[in-house]
Amino acid sequence: MRALVQDHYGSPDVLRVEDIPVPAAGAGEVLVRVHAASVNARDWHLMRGEPRLARLAGSDFGRTGPRSRVRGTDFAGIVEAVGPGLTAWRPGDEVYGESAGAFAEYVAAPAEVVAAKPASLTFEEAAAMPLAANTALVCLREGGLKAGQAVLINGASGGVGTFAVQLAKSWDARVTAVCSDRNADLVRSLGADVVVDYGREDFAKSARRYDLVLDLVGNRSLCDLRHVLTPGGCIVLSGGGVSGEGRIIGPMSLLIRGQLLARLTRLRLIVPEAEPSARNLGELSALVGSGSLTPVVDRVFPLKDAAEAVRYMEVEHARAKVVITV
Ligand SMILES: NC(=O)c1ccc[n+]([C@@H]2O[C@H](COP(=O)([O-])OP(=O)(O)OC[C@H]3O[C@@H](n4cnc5c(N)ncnc54)[C@H](OP(=O)(O)O)[C@@H]3O)[C@@H](O)[C@H]2O)c1
Repeated sequence: MRALVQDHYGSPDVLRVEDIPVPAAGAGEVLVRVHAASVNARDWHLMRGEPRLARLAGSDFGRTGPRSRVRGTDFAGIVEAVGPGLTAWRPGDEVYGESAGAFAEYVAAPAEVVAAKPASLTFEEAAAMPLAANTALVCLREGGLKAGQAVLINGASGGVGTFAVQLAKSWDARVTAVCSDRNADLVRSLGADVVVDYGREDFAKSARRYDLVLDLVGNRSLCDLRHVLTPGGCIVLSGGGVSGEGRIIGPMSLLIRGQLLARLTRLRLIVPEAEPSARNLGELSALVGSGSLTPVVDRVFPLKDAAEAVRYMEVEHARAKVVITV
């Protein structure tokens, strides 16, 4: 099968489409014929091996290249085969999910990370959802967001942010979205009550206060994030950093210092791990079905141009999601 592979860290030039063996569905796994996959920030972090500190600490990062050769995590497609002992899925089922190696004609995925594709979505739209929408859901849920509360979302126009805005609105929260001017109309159309253009206004200097501050960028100080918090409010850190900045340590120092401070003081600060989850995907599918959640797709690239798709996502400030069709 054709797949986007990588052996060393570097620029998008290290990514190439190659013929490799089709994976087999192991026990408890499905083999999915991929129709569409989507790009996440983690693809360019793994491509570059940045922040470099992750090469020492991260489970997906090896010393000179990623541990898994095939890039991509999110997929939507049709079940081709099921592994031994699995009865939940049958060949022909339309599914979506999150598993390593999605930029390929086939991906093998454990059943626990696969859900039925929402019937109203195309494969391209469904592939845009898993990692980003799950991260948004886990961050808002673990941050304890409640109806009527005010939430600030830094990075609201990105893959995770566009889902976070919609989820927060579906929970009846008041949403302030921080993004660039060119994406203001998009986040407003998704339900944001207030939009802050980071090029013109610094949210940390505003008098507004928030019950939840969700940072999906990783380029602001702890002091800035705390400054806009209500007493008892919660900071949720999920930003992996901006391309070209913080190449050695990136936001890892912010994450470590934040967690230390939360231990030593009464500051509520969390760094959620958004584990892939079929159960969460089911919840997200229901929101799609009720019209509360719609994936936003910026551009679609064929698999042969998948390296360009990753480059576009990393450096061109992609709006919401970038999708690869297989
Ligand atoms: N912890 C986890 O499990 C987890 C999971 C998924 C993602 N993440 C992290 O979450 C972050 C968001 O992921 P994503 O897929 O949504 O990324 P993305 O699609 O690239 O979105 C990036 C967002 O950051 C904004 N941004 C870019 N440069 C900025 C700057 N200099 N100042 C302020 N805002 C800036 C963008 O706004 P404009 O385009 O409008 O400029 C956009 O809203 C990433 O850092 C990723 O590593 C973490």
